[in-house]
Amino acid sequence: MRALRARLDGLREQVLDGRAEAVERQRALGKRTARERLDLLLDEDSFLEVDIYRRHQASGLKVSESRPHTDGVVAGSGTIDGRRVFVYAQDFTIFGGSLGAAHAAKIHKVMDLALNAGAPLIGLNDSGGARIQEGVPALDGYGGIFRRHVAASGIIPQISVILGPCAGGAAYSPALTDFVFMVRETAQMYLTGPDVIASVTGEQVSHQELGGADVHGTRSGVATFVHDDEESCLADVRYLVSILPPNNMEPAPEFPACDAERDERPRLAEIVPADLSKPYDMRAVLAEVVDDGEYLEIHEHWATNVVCALAHIDGRLVGVVGNQPAVLAGVLDIPASEKAARFVRFCDAFSIPLVTLVDVPGFLPGTGQEYDGIIRHGAKLLYAYCEATVPRIQVIVRKAYGGAYIVMDSRSVGTDLSLAWPTNEIAVLGAEGAVDVLFRRELAAAEDRVRLRGDLVAQYTEQLMHPQYAAERGLVDDVIDPAWTRAVVAKGLAMLRTKRKHAPRRKHGNIPL
Ligand code: COA
Repeated sequence: MRALRARLDGLREQVLDGRAEAVERQRALGKRTARERLDLLLDEDSFLEVDIYRRHQASGLKVSESRPHTDGVVAGSGTIDGRRVFVYAQDFTIFGGSLGAAHAAKIHKVMDLALNAGAPLIGLNDSGGARIQEGVPALDGYGGIFRRHVAASGIIPQISVILGPCAGGAAYSPALTDFVFMVRETAQMYLTGPDVIASVTGEQVSHQELGGADVHGTRSGVATFVHDDEESCLADVRYLVSILPPNNMEPAPEFPACDAERDERPRLAEIVPADLSKPYDMRAVLAEVVDDGEYLEIHEHWATNVVCALAHIDGRLVGVVGNQPAVLAGVLDIPASEKAARFVRFCDAFSIPLVTLVDVPGFLPGTGQEYDGIIRHGAKLLYAYCEATVPRIQVIVRKAYGGAYIVMDSRSVGTDLSLAWPTNEIAVLGAEGAVDVLFRRELAAAEDRVRLRGDLVAQYTEQLMHPQYAAERGLVDDVIDPAWTRAVVAKGLAMLRTKRKHAPRRKHGNIPL
């Protein structure tokens, strides 16, 4: 027995240590090994590995000569803040982390375990893609991953962390998950690499320019979070997991209540300029409304004209969506609609109440937006709000015009509680625009056009553009002192805590994609 145990220990040590020169190369690239990453991600000594001795069974071109254990992926389960998660970490030191049939089967196994256990799935990606020498079974392996992501979508949170290459079809695994973390310099995602692009279109582009973390964090919206190094990235994955519900049937962890229902915030009345054309940072409002001024911004660097964040109010997790007047005056455009729609759907799937802070001049005008389908993309946000059954509170901070007012969780699309600040203007159009349309002929014929226009704008504003007009018609529930926003929202969330609303039975809706 002693000899057998010693042999087992030796083999395990060999598997855990990996090939020295490959590990050195990984470090030279500024990357940690798969096991070091799992050590950073998971609670100490919590990891239970599955399939450590698995090896590929393929034969043929350059493949049978080497059959390393693990087959290039470390898979299993551990805890984060004491809560169960399932993980896999691709190991670039073995076949470049490429995915063959055995490698894929291990990922399938932890995905199935995660879904059955109702616990988050975290994939650490660092891979050259489909294992070229295995051929079609590798592609089949990807299909099995994609199918499982979709089956688990909306049931368990799924998180992808990109810590090296993630190219070709492989990129569709993160694309199907809820959150994508990327690390600057070392991570890259693209469907076709720089060489293929050069040969097909003649464009010269580097790996980072094509699919680096900043490109995906600011331009494409593929990356939800961007980090400078693996350590801070994995620390943030831990934080995200620590605040999310483990699945769609269980609530998110709660922090102690902090008397938010009586919390007056005088600063709120000072942040927002009464002059509608003056910008301000909606994140300052957000920070005053949520507990401890703390929030986790989703897509912080992409579509920044809308702010999406996870935060707590009176100790309970909420999703906050806010227009951002500091960027493009807070208009809704295609990326902003897509960003907010996906966030609203995530929150709804995991029973996270929604608070929507509205200050929106409308949808972005222009041929570019129209030709690219703002109608179709804006409809995603509308659809997402219309179908959301979680508690929903709308706070109209300053202005809300036209279709954008309707979309931003208005009463008509199903908000549970609508609150307005006294500065607010809800209207089909801003006063100047409205007067120019309604009184075009009168203005053209007027001797003193400027004066008449000024008078008409004042009349229109007085009659239609004050919050009382909407409140008298039941379209806002209350006009509140800004300083009491946090308190009233907290009361509203408490009132809606037991809200039960079930979507009608159907196979699924047909969201405009
Ligand atoms: N299949 C099999 N082996 C692969 C592989 C793949 N898809 N991708 C990388 N590898 C192997 C390499 O052959 C190399 O093996 P070696 O150490 O025995 O020489 C090892 O992984 C490291 O790869 P290398 O190319 O030296 O690393 P790099 O950091 O210079 O480049 C990539 C990384 C991902 C850019 C590069 O490996 C690459 O282009 N891979 C192919 C990507 C691809 O076309 N995938 C298939 C489509 S999904």
